[in-house]
Amino acid sequence: MKHVRMPVPGVSLGCDYNPEQWSPDVWREDVALMRQAGVDLVAVNIFGWSNLEPSPGEYRFDDLDEVVELLHAGGIKLNLGTGTSSPPPWLTTLHPEVLPVAADGTTRFPGGRQAWCPSSPVFRERALDLVGRVARRYGDHPALALWHVSNELGCHNALCYCETSAEAFRNWLRGRYRKIETLNAAWGTSFWSQRYGDWSEIQPPRLALSLRNPAQIVDFHRFSSDELLGHYRAEAAVLREHSEAPVTTNFMVTAHIRNLDYWSWAPEMDVIANDHYLDHRLGDPVAELSFAADLTRGLAGGRPWMLMEQAAGAVNWQPHNLTKAPGEMIRNSLTHVARGADSVCFFQWRASAQGAEKFHSALLPHAGTDTLAWREVLRLSGILDRIGEVAGTEVEADTALLFSWDSWWSAEGEARPSQAVTYLDQVHAAHRALRELGATTDVIAPGADLSRYRLVVVPCLYMVSDTDAQAIADYVAGGGRVVVTFFSGIVDERDRIRLGGYPGAFRDLLGVVAEEFAPLLPGMSVSLSNGGTGTLWTERLRVTTATVEAEYLDGPMPGIPAITRNQYGDGLAWYVATKTDLSDLLRTITGARQTGQAEIVRRTGDGRGYLFVINHGTDPVECPATGHDLITGQAVDGLLRVEGGGVAVVREEAP
Ligand code: GAL
Ligand code: ZN
Repeated sequence: MKHVRMPVPGVSLGCDYNPEQWSPDVWREDVALMRQAGVDLVAVNIFGWSNLEPSPGEYRFDDLDEVVELLHAGGIKLNLGTGTSSPPPWLTTLHPEVLPVAADGTTRFPGGRQAWCPSSPVFRERALDLVGRVARRYGDHPALALWHVSNELGCHNALCYCETSAEAFRNWLRGRYRKIETLNAAWGTSFWSQRYGDWSEIQPPRLALSLRNPAQIVDFHRFSSDELLGHYRAEAAVLREHSEAPVTTNFMVTAHIRNLDYWSWAPEMDVIANDHYLDHRLGDPVAELSFAADLTRGLAGGRPWMLMEQAAGAVNWQPHNLTKAPGEMIRNSLTHVARGADSVCFFQWRASAQGAEKFHSALLPHAGTDTLAWREVLRLSGILDRIGEVAGTEVEADTALLFSWDSWWSAEGEARPSQAVTYLDQVHAAHRALRELGATTDVIAPGADLSRYRLVVVPCLYMVSDTDAQAIADYVAGGGRVVVTFFSGIVDERDRIRLGGYPGAFRDLLGVVAEEFAPLLPGMSVSLSNGGTGTLWTERLRVTTATVEAEYLDGPMPGIPAITRNQYGDGLAWYVATKTDLSDLLRTITGARQTGQAEIVRRTGDGRGYLFVINHGTDPVECPATGHDLITGQAVDGLLRVEGGGVAVVREEAP
């Protein structure tokens, strides 16, 4: 990635601000309180359209002008939305064809947000018209620090099955396959009488009576991601005509969103920005936070990035919306910074009194400033000021984990060996095991340069191209170490099985071949000869050149290898054919020690080094360090002790 264009120096504090909800006297109070809280960067006009253009072609910028000037006078920088995230009601009334259509052919109506079809030419034209006006009006405003295109593109409307989208899909397929026969071959349409004679016969994978064509579904995901990226590009191009400010949009690298292939989006951003919300439906939400931060850094090519949104306390869209304990918001914010964020922003500034998100937390809660939440904001702000010199440094990682949206989409096809095997669970489990050992992991794309890593973990990489599989094999041949987990290397980019035994693409590298899968029923487990247990999955595996590290003692595959190790060139390749705790294996490989609940991460650059210790647990942790804790200002002389729940950022000096 090209050099990063951070909107504000230091480690900044920011938030979304929706002043449309409040009267002008509240705006003044808001800016005064933002100054008190040390807010550096404010996102406005994210959902501005219906206020800016109350009826077709009628524009009203007075309110936004006033808010912009108030923020500017307060020394606060603008993260300016293009305002196109949700169409105003007049647009969907005038042009109902803009509305998205679900896989069952039913329309999704306005009344929520983002009710637009990504392929709609009418929406595109109207949106770009608005973007042009906003860009001309504010494009060289001295407070403008960043353009914020739309909002969370594809959060709700990523997959549209309307006729306009169908036609756009056909065009996309023509570009990809050129000849209809090539498409037929790629999709395996000879099966179930699906052969196409003409492009016009092709539809998006609308709801059908039976299982749908899996290759068609994967291509529809690719198309849909490209289509929204096309929208981003179109808005960004208009902005760049009128403004020099950096341009981005907020990604959703967070557990429940999977429709955008951000590896293809990332190179188009001037700075990578992510929205992250803790998901309490997961077993270990903070481990997922660390994973998301590592993946966001991967998208940023290792350079600093922005946390564009998080919640100060509870969200309001989960079944049970847990608040944050004292200190938790600060620990989580610093976890993002430790893993490469140079900006910590929140949704939203002031908690709404009305509307769909009135129970969502904010920096300024309903109860006002005499609150724990507000005091925590002030505390965070002080900490971010004190650690500002960290900005621009990069995270040190010697382990990598390969992540692929293609695999996510395809491994979770409608018909697969086990519905209980889900891609993200396998990825999270591998990342969590590394994190608990204290390894800092870069989450990167298959095909990325692996040469600098001591260990590469490849969880559930179901779909892999020849080139990417070769890159992994070359890395190992050159002395690298890789751990591959089950349901990897199974298909090529067309979702076509790699014949000759599983795990097709990695058979030679791993020195094994599997004849058949034997998934386990939920709740069932098998014993392994190394003392561990396996769940979810086994397979009828035999070694060709590998040695057996553990075998099944019971279950459907007694005596069959479960974990193997293969010498390949100058390196080593392990295969783990069941779902098992990876900690023991990874500990042996990395020689790492357990750090449990604390994250210990180092950022370095320009000859400086910063050690982040974030103790999510209740017991104190100790680790060797020499230097100064930037948060307390105290000297650290050889050994750093961080109390349960505590945080430290040590500027390291040679002991
Ligand atoms: C994000 C969105 C914000 C707000 C927030 C609530 O998805 O960008 O506008 O809705 O979630 O958690
Ligand atoms: Zn559509």
